Formats: sequence, structure tokens, C-alpha cells
Amino acid sequence: MTKVYMTNKNEVTMEKIVSLSKRRGFVFPSSEIYGGLAAVYDYGPYGVELAKNIKEAWWREMVQSREDIVGLDSAIFMHPKIWQASGHVAGFADPLIECKTCHARLRLDHLLEDVGVAADEKMSEQEIEQIFIKNKAKIKCLSCGGKEFTDVKKFNLLVKSNLGNFTEDWGKDPVYLRGETCQGIYVNYKNVLDSSRVKIPFGIAQIGKVFRNEITARQFIFRTREFEQMEMQYFIEPEKEMEEYEKLKKARWRFYLSLGIKEKNLSWHKHENLVFYAKQAYDVEYNFPFGFKELEGVHARGDYDLSQHAKFSGQDLSYTDLETKKKYIPHIIEASAGVGRTMLAVLSDAYAEEEVNGEIRTVMKFNKFLAPVKIAVFPLLKNKPALVKLAKEIYNNLKKEYRCEFDDNGNIGKRYRRQDEIGTPYCVTVDFDSLEKGDATVRDRDSMEQERVKTSELGSYFKKKFANS
Ligand code: GAP
Repeated sequence: MTKVYMTNKNEVTMEKIVSLSKRRGFVFPSSEIYGGLAAVYDYGPYGVELAKNIKEAWWREMVQSREDIVGLDSAIFMHPKIWQASGHVAGFADPLIECKTCHARLRLDHLLEDVGVAADEKMSEQEIEQIFIKNKAKIKCLSCGGKEFTDVKKFNLLVKSNLGNFTEDWGKDPVYLRGETCQGIYVNYKNVLDSSRVKIPFGIAQIGKVFRNEITARQFIFRTREFEQMEMQYFIEPEKEMEEYEKLKKARWRFYLSLGIKEKNLSWHKHENLVFYAKQAYDVEYNFPFGFKELEGVHARGDYDLSQHAKFSGQDLSYTDLETKKKYIPHIIEASAGVGRTMLAVLSDAYAEEEVNGEIRTVMKFNKFLAPVKIAVFPLLKNKPALVKLAKEIYNNLKKEYRCEFDDNGNIGKRYRRQDEIGTPYCVTVDFDSLEKGDATVRDRDSMEQERVKTSELGSYFKKKFANS
């Protein structure tokens, strides 16, 4: 008898996600044959497809389906002054303490959070030191359990490069690897305005790599030192900031539901300690196997970003409304998400274990449009040329439209299990009946039901199956 059940959330552990990611080619530790590089990861054959599908979904939502948002791809290297204007050189720092026993470096704000004490990375060294002193008794080293720590130090997260510095005074004015993509958007705001048909309100969206010297390397791809961001900055009239902010919050929530993430695993976290210029700040949180943590920031930033760049560059970044003649520095609301973090949320949410005929199958129940492979095609037996030939023909036809995989290795049950573990929605099997009747078996990943479909109709069959997915 087929008994099917889904694991409950508690059974989706990080160990299971990390193991499946490695075993099935989603995520590998970087430079593994050299012992790895902390907090850096590589995406394998299925990880790169999943990440691409996430980015495409984001771009469709943010750019393609919006008349008022355009895309951008700015460079990773930017003028050093940008990071002074943004406040990163002076203030982009995490509070660090070192364990006196094992010398592990630890993020104090995270240690405090773990014992239920709110601490914001934006607090000054003195503010967080005070909170640390009050709560010292509750804190222990994550690595050795030690209770003796150094004083708090703020550790700047910007990663320096030696680009263009051929002289001895290298290091005085370094070019950084960008720490967030949105600075490239702010400094191109005038270019976009002058070269395209946008007018306020409008947004600029960008997906790209960023680099941060994160202190702690834990939680897999949740916090890495190199990662991709998907950021959209929306430029608006000052009076419209909060109205537009509420709309953006709703849109961002809907986006995560559209990825197939279960609503019970999402929540809003309100920032209590706002930076001085911010009007409002909420994070979308996801219930990762280690608890609810930030997935995306949705923030109302006032006119801080453009005012700072106007001040540091000496350029006029104000906007004049051609109809009302009103002149102002646009306010900005932003939606800022990480590709890796979204991927970890998608992997955790899709992961399921089911008992089928007394055996446990692991299945990734990705939304169809996120699945790395859409259709797998198998000949029942690999040593029967007629079956292989027909299966290859089907594969060659379907791969023009869909990311497909051809597999003739091992028994059919094993091939299904493998496709279940990478979340392939459909498998097509060619058997001896196919040769006589011109049809094949299509097996559905979730229901495991099988139906015979004429090979000549597979194109239209899958068109319907993937419509609106
Ligand atoms: N421009 C605003 C900004 O960069 P952030 O909260 O520092 O804000 C935005 O980052 C998003 O980028 C986060 O919500 C998260 O999804 C992702 N992110 C931040 N740091 C990350 C890291 N070290 N590793 C992976 N993703 C990260």
C-alpha cells in the first residue's frame, strides 16, 4: 500500500539540506580539494539552474511586468568615494568579540540575539559594549563554550582590492569590491533619468555579486563572503514615500508566495532601532531550519542616499517635476534580497520525505518554474537500441523548449528517485509498448501517478502542464 506523508518542519534539518545539496550537485564548498575557503560556496549543475530560475522570476516580477522599473548592471569596482558617501567606510562594521580560550571570532549581535537580547549591528561600539556587559553571564563561545572574551571591536566588512594601485602608498585610498549593489543604482540615477523615458515615480533594479568580510562563517549559504543580491530602488516624491512603501511591502510578500513558499514560513520583522535617516524598515523573514531569519529587507530610506552622493560628488541630484515645476531630492524605498538566501529558503521549503510502499523517498517539491530540470526522459532498458533511439528523439524534441535530462543508468526506480531528489516535475519513460503504440509513460513527481501519452502529443501535453507555472 502507498502511504504518503510529508515531514513536518522540524524534520527539515540543515544537515539534510547540506547533504542533499552536495550529493545532488546544488551547492559545493568552494575550493574543496584544497580544504575549502570559509563562507564561500560554488553552485553545481542544479544549483546554477535553480539560482538562474530564482533570478529570472525576480526580474520578471521587478522589471518585465512593470512599466515603471528598468534594469541596470553596474560594475563591481566603483570610485572609492562612493563608499565614504554611503557611510560604509566609517560605519559598515559588525561588532566582534574574540574568545580568550580558543580565539574564535564571534559576532556579538548574533550571540546576544541567540539569548533573546536585541542588538542591532548599527549600534555604536559603546552602545553594544553596554549591552554586552549587562548580558555577559548568558553568553558562551559557539566553538568551545568558553566564557572569557575580549572587548568589543567593530570590524569593517568592506573587502579591499589593489585595483589600479601601482604605487607604494597603496592602501590609502583603496578600491573596494562593492558591498551592496544599490550604490551602483544611486550613482547612475541621473544617467537613467536622462537616457530613458522614466519619470518619478520609477525604479531601478539590479542583480549582481557583492563581497563582505563576514566575521562568522556558519549556516551554509545563508551568510557568505561572496554572494549575489537582487535589489530594487524606487525613486519617489517625498510625500508619497510611505504610501509607495506599503505597496512595495505587499508586492514583496506576494513574490515569495509566488515562488511556492508556504505562507506559514514567512513573517515580517519590524526594525526597532532605525538608523537616523530611515522612515521605516521591515524584513521579510523565513523559517529556516535554524529559525526565522532575514530573507529580504524592505526599507524606506528618505533622501539620505541621493543627498549623500550629491554632497560627496558635488553634482546636483535633484529632480524637477516638469508639470508642477517642483524641485526636490527624490526619496527612496528599497527591496533588497540575496539569491543564496532565497535559494536556501526554496530548498528548505521544497524538501519533503515521504513513505512510499514502505520506503522513504526524498523529494524536492519545487514550483515547476523553479525546478532545475523540467523533464527527464528514460529508455526502459539501455541495451535495447530501439528504445534508446525513440527516447533520444523525444529528448531532442523536448529540450528545444525545456531544460531536460536524458538518463539510461540503473533501474527505473533509481532513476525516479534521483529525479525526485533534484525536483524534476515530470519523467517520460519509453518502453516496448511505446514502439508498437507510439506512446510513452509520463510520471508526475508529486502524485507519482503515471499516464500514457502519445509521443506526437508530448509537446502540447507539456505546454499545458507548464502553462502559468
Ligand atoms: N542595500 C541594502 C542591503 O544590502 P542588507 O540587509 O545588508 O541590505 C540585503 O542585505 C540582503 O542581502 C539580505 O536580506 C540578505 O538576503 C542578503 N545578504 C546580506 N548579507 C548576506 C551574506 N553575508 N550572505 C548572503 N546573503 C546576504
